[in-house]
Amino acid sequence: MIGAGAGRGELSGPPAPPTLCPMETPANPPPAGATTELVVAVQQLRKEYASTGRAVVALADVDLDVAAGRFTAIMGSSGSGKSTLLHVIGGLTPPTSGRVLVEGQDLGTMSDRARTIFRRRRIGVIFQDFNLLPTLTARENVALPSLVDGSAFSTVRDKVESLLDAVHLGHRMDHRPDALSGGEQQRVAIARALLNDPAIILADEPTGNLDSQQSREIWELMRRVAREQGKTILMVTHEALGAAHADEVVVFKDGQVIGTLEPKGSADAALVATGYQELAR
Ligand SMILES: Nc1ncnc2c1ncn2[C@@H]1O[C@H](COP(=O)(O)OP(=O)(O)OP(=O)(O)O)[C@@H](O)[C@H]1O
Ligand SMILES: [Mg+2]
Repeated sequence: MIGAGAGRGELSGPPAPPTLCPMETPANPPPAGATTELVVAVQQLRKEYASTGRAVVALADVDLDVAAGRFTAIMGSSGSGKSTLLHVIGGLTPPTSGRVLVEGQDLGTMSDRARTIFRRRRIGVIFQDFNLLPTLTARENVALPSLVDGSAFSTVRDKVESLLDAVHLGHRMDHRPDALSGGEQQRVAIARALLNDPAIILADEPTGNLDSQQSREIWELMRRVAREQGKTILMVTHEALGAAHADEVVVFKDGQVIGTLEPKGSADAALVATGYQELAR
């Protein structure tokens, strides 16, 4: 965990691997902080959207467990229900039936207000289009979740700066989004998602607007966050190379989980691509 007590840019908590480059990390060491504890339990989750004519079944009774400290990628063709799953897990869309437990708490039994607060404090979200406020600096954007929660900036300043250092943006803290590259903006968004030390980070195609080099940096950063900080990450991606950075790849088709793959590192991208095609055809 990066905290106010940690030196700026240092990763505190469990001992960190000697390198920050996942490409050189041995295949699948247990992620720091990984336990068998479930952070998310998706049980018989169904989501139907009413539309003219017949209902669209976006999620068809999905079961999925996400263990603490695990970096899970979700792959699936367009329309297979990936974003819908993240929206329901994130408490943004109510399911038609079934339930989602985050840290053992059933989002469906919470009041709207309780769910909003829970979401803000326990669930970090990273969007394809970064979703930074254009008038705020990187530092202010990262602080935003705490400011919305009523904290004064001074109480989170050290943590904000630690997070920006950790995503290698210590020299860009006072820049506004329009003065940052896409990859830098997404790194600000990752730092923002980490601010409240969430139970899980949900990322829906976080590299969808980035070029291949920037994409690689973001996947490596996410892998580092999972490995070194024991963060639990659920990331939707269309790219086998991105998915190969995860501990596990869950393959979706027609609103259902049709299989899982376990890459042994980013060098396994070709195997992920082949395994995915075999499952999805
Ligand atoms: N608000 C909505 N109203 C009606 N149908 C919807 C709505 N949102 C999604 N759908 C439908 O639900 C299905 C699953 O959509 P979803 O966005 O979850 O797919 P996806 O796997 O994320 O696709 P993509 O890879 O293109 O982002 C699709 O058939 C989609 O058209
Ligand atoms: Mg989607």
